[in-house]
Amino acid sequence: MDTMITKRMVPVGSQFLSDVLDGLQADPKFLSSKYFYDEKGDQIFQQIMEMKEYYLTNSEMEILEEQSAKLADFISSGGDGFDLIELGAGDATKSIHLLSALLQSQLDFTYFPIDISSHVINDLEENLPKKLPELQIQGLNGDYFKMLQKAKTISDRRKVVLFMGANIGNMDLAEAENFCCDLQNELSPNDLLIIGFDLKKNPKQILAAYNDPAGITRSFNLNLLDRINRELDGDFDISNFDHYASYDPETGACKSYLISLNEQRVNIGDETIHFNKSEHIYMEISQKYSLADIDALASKTGFTPIHRFFDRKEYFVDAVWKVD
Ligand code: AVJ
Repeated sequence: MDTMITKRMVPVGSQFLSDVLDGLQADPKFLSSKYFYDEKGDQIFQQIMEMKEYYLTNSEMEILEEQSAKLADFISSGGDGFDLIELGAGDATKSIHLLSALLQSQLDFTYFPIDISSHVINDLEENLPKKLPELQIQGLNGDYFKMLQKAKTISDRRKVVLFMGANIGNMDLAEAENFCCDLQNELSPNDLLIIGFDLKKNPKQILAAYNDPAGITRSFNLNLLDRINRELDGDFDISNFDHYASYDPETGACKSYLISLNEQRVNIGDETIHFNKSEHIYMEISQKYSLADIDALASKTGFTPIHRFFDRKEYFVDAVWKVD
């Protein structure tokens, strides 16, 4: 028999493991909120969206429910025949209103929802056509930028990109700038980006959305420690951690932390992580923007703002930007 070359199998989740160890071995410690969304995390996020304190979802929903016809006009003014690409489509409960308005205007477009979860993409491909039979849909499962490149090889039509849900809030300002630059580089002049931002407002109201008395946001954060236990052979005792949310009106940064309640050691696979009493893990940023911040981000990254859609309370904005 020929010599067999045996390769060490790279375990699924090795990126998760190395990101977790990088973050917990850093000083100060941090974890990435992109890992919040396992099956349990998705469920807890659903509960967050139903909380009365979490105004973001209702605000953006109102924009889509009430102004989709006008949004469709902006999109179609660039010409008929385009691809609508949604980054992080989720269950499309908001974008379905826009899809329906675009179909009503008899526009020729294909909807490319992109999501990192194959489960999400399968669900959309199965369920959206039941609700919108004329919809042309092609789901793309994977990384935003890789899938955007794939969409470009499938079709060379004008692109309209949707990035809603204030997902850009999970990047700090420098990361958001890089992200918008990278996105702009993938697009062509006159392509559109429709992007949702949570606006700076009364700090008490922002903080309340991330610090609910029922502790749902707390369990959303703690679930990442549980996920590390489940998937990376960790032994976090989550009762040894508390959740702390903060909002700084000067920078617009709403941040959440887990605080170690005592000195402790936690094992993750073969590694041991030491925590001092009161040491924090930085878990998530939910960056808030002023209208000037949003326009500045557009102009720094090669876009021109062309319209803003607000909810009645002006808590939230879906901005329409055109590629320069
Ligand atoms: C999904 C990023 C918009 O930052 O408001 C909700 C996630 N974190 N509560 C947000 C989240 C805590 C949410 N985004």
